Amino acid sequence: MNILVTGGAGYIGSHITRYILRRDLRPVVLDNLVYGHRESVPRGVPFYHGQIADSKLVAKIIRQEKINAVMHFSAYAYVGESVENPQKYYENNFCQTQKLLETLLAHDIKYFIFSSTCATYGIHATTKLSETLPQNPINPYGFTKLAVERMLSDYSQAYGLHYAALRYFNAAGADDDGAIGEAHDPETHLIPLALQSILNPEKQLKIFGTDYPTPDGTCVRDYIHVYDLAAAHLQALDYIMRKKTSDCFNLGSENGYSVKAIIQTCEKISGLKVNYQETVRRAGDPAYLVADSSKAHKILGWQARYDLEKIIATAWQWEKYRRY
Ligand code: UFG
Repeated sequence: MNILVTGGAGYIGSHITRYILRRDLRPVVLDNLVYGHRESVPRGVPFYHGQIADSKLVAKIIRQEKINAVMHFSAYAYVGESVENPQKYYENNFCQTQKLLETLLAHDIKYFIFSSTCATYGIHATTKLSETLPQNPINPYGFTKLAVERMLSDYSQAYGLHYAALRYFNAAGADDDGAIGEAHDPETHLIPLALQSILNPEKQLKIFGTDYPTPDGTCVRDYIHVYDLAAAHLQALDYIMRKKTSDCFNLGSENGYSVKAIIQTCEKISGLKVNYQETVRRAGDPAYLVADSSKAHKILGWQARYDLEKIIATAWQWEKYRRY
């Protein structure tokens, strides 16, 4: 099977590309390299440099590579930036996706896996978030992802598109052999910043807020390894193709870890001290975000396999020897 991976040179997309390859399926990558890294796409994988909204290019890829299904990762994902510059986010994450879907439907591509996010839920008073909760995002990034989910739902009713919207919690970790890993520029995520503070004395991690209503006062998140996400993508694709259906799934480990717990685990794995300072809260951070992933367990037969220590061990390998 030939799978078009948009954003396949980005953090999550590149790991999923490798995973697809290891499963003896055939990934084809389309990436505009705004945030992606050409080096992270394995040699031998067809690579196209361009925009998902370029219908001529997408049509050429579909024909030339005999595409059967699409996994769509290309999106901007800086929550703070989305508040300052929502136009950039609506244009890229929503409008370009709309153009991509138009081209796919025109060429009878009916299977689509969408990289969505727990940021579509907003803030809820429950301990674990399930798919049945109302989606009320609190930032433009979350709204752009929710808008695409809505478009997919309408398109599936009207045009027979089959899709899965996968709502990730905190994607983390790296390839087991250290070949690829998280390489955002700028980096804003907790685990890489904690590990970088160990390796570079000039980098200090800031803990954003110690007065949250959580056991140690720092925010709690649900960290999920990129290869666990990758497995879910293939299981979801198999499911929508077999059942000719569409659905949405939360992808998380169902375990919550505070910022301080992450720091302790980084220290345990590396045997070294994280250099950190406690500061004020970052705007827009919910105190507690943990998944109820029982739907993915039940329907897809999916389970997270990497625990927090394994996730951080792969991230540490990557940070120590990273190539880009
Ligand atoms: N944090 C710090 N210091 C830092 C970076 C993060 O204390 O330098 C804290 C944050 O306040 C948060 C936790 O660490 O409590 C995790 O923060 P990340 O930035 O690593 O991840 P987020 O939970 O903010 O964001 C992730 C994804 C987004 C997605 C969001 C959904 O990266 O794409 O989950 O809430 F939108």
